[in-house]
Amino acid sequence: MAKKTMTIHLKIWRQAGPDASGRLVDYTVEANPHMSFLEMLDVLNEDLIKKGEEPVEFDYDCREGICGSCGVVVDGIAHGPQHRTAVCQLHMRHYRDGDTIVVEPWRAEAFPVIRDLVVDRGAFDRIISAGGYVSVNTGSAQDANNLPVPKPNADQAFDYAACIGCGACVAACPNASASLFTAAKIAHLALLPQGSPERQLRVERMVSQMQVEGFGDCSNHAECEAVCPKGISISAIARMRREYVKACLAGG
Ligand code: FES
Repeated sequence: MAKKTMTIHLKIWRQAGPDASGRLVDYTVEANPHMSFLEMLDVLNEDLIKKGEEPVEFDYDCREGICGSCGVVVDGIAHGPQHRTAVCQLHMRHYRDGDTIVVEPWRAEAFPVIRDLVVDRGAFDRIISAGGYVSVNTGSAQDANNLPVPKPNADQAFDYAACIGCGACVAACPNASASLFTAAKIAHLALLPQGSPERQLRVERMVSQMQVEGFGDCSNHAECEAVCPKGISISAIARMRREYVKACLAGG
């Protein structure tokens, strides 16, 4: 009878804490091809717990590609080999029996490792706190038709708003730049009338916070766009730069 499970060899980054040194540790797990990548890690963790060993720490919440909590580097690629797929939506059927998979955390100075595959992405929260919101008092909700938005703007704003803030863009960038994340938020709000009143202050504050957090600058490698599970275009970065220049020229 054909084998229903697949034997997967794993090399997983284990690190006991932020200041501990880490290393790749070898494991073998029997996975079902219908499992997601995270379910395969769950099976490994059940085995480890049964053996009295520490389970592998990894982040997740929705497991539906929505929340942006998950994120690991799989065989050198942020979120793994499936294009436009968060690692929680990656399935084991894309692997073969006997494959070896290397799993590591995001690597960036601004995303320090907390433990194993979990990194601190608080820097993203602080960039959002710096200006990624609309604070003008809009009163109670009006009829949507009272605020006309041109269709191309609405479509593009929606595309940028699809960013889930997972940090894959930072992990893939040779400069560990957070430009795609920051730009997606700035471009999304700049395209909509509700975001216009604060656009100047927003871009200045968010770009400056990005620098404070220690992210690198963008030098147009476009690795971020290639790994983004939501396919956010680097056109957002060009828009962020235009917004920034306009804000500087306006004397902000
Ligand atoms: S766990 Fe929510 S996007 Fe992956």
